[in-house]
Amino acid sequence: MSSPFRTELRLASAEETARLATRIAPLLGPGDVLLLSGGIGAGKTHFARALIQSLLVEPEDVPSPTFTLVQEYDTTAGTLWHADLYRLSDPLEVVELGLEEAFSDAICLVEWPDRLADLTPPSALALELIPEGPGDARLLRADGPTDWAARLAGVLA
Ligand SMILES: Nc1ncnc2c1ncn2[C@@H]1O[C@H](COP(=O)(O)OP(=O)(O)OP(=O)(O)O)[C@@H](O)[C@H]1O
Ligand SMILES: [Mg+2]
Repeated sequence: MSSPFRTELRLASAEETARLATRIAPLLGPGDVLLLSGGIGAGKTHFARALIQSLLVEPEDVPSPTFTLVQEYDTTAGTLWHADLYRLSDPLEVVELGLEEAFSDAICLVEWPDRLADLTPPSALALELIPEGPGDARLLRADGPTDWAARLAGVLA
């Protein structure tokens, strides 16, 4: 078995994070799940917003789904779900929200994916944003099954 994909990248500014998100966007299709982790204010929503806005069919706001838990978008790559599971207390709510189905049928961007526990899709790409120093720099750590290496070649690898 080949080893899983793992890489790190420095993002010096919010703009660099947004630019990376818009470069990953066209590589995604239904069934792709990105797990966006990192502490409060790390930049998960910033990354998701840039990615979603680059794919929207009609321009619209992309609010943080902190209170709605999930937001659904119509994109040029099909339906996209943006979830923020911070307020989730029971992984069973993931099923109630319809997220399990979305994992197979839609593009899904999931903030606070640790809440998924056993429901984490094994094919997902995990992206962690880690603040570096007092400024805007972030370390992006990507982890996922080996096929992501080829898919992200030129963007992350
Ligand atoms: N390198 C960077 N990458 C991403 N965001 C950055 C960066 N530098 C500064 N920022 C700023 O940090 C803030 C990150 O806020 P954001 O809402 O994206 O955080 P979050 O990780 O989603 O937090 P929460 O857990 O509360 O949802 C934004 O205002 C963004 O402009
Ligand atoms: Mg957020």
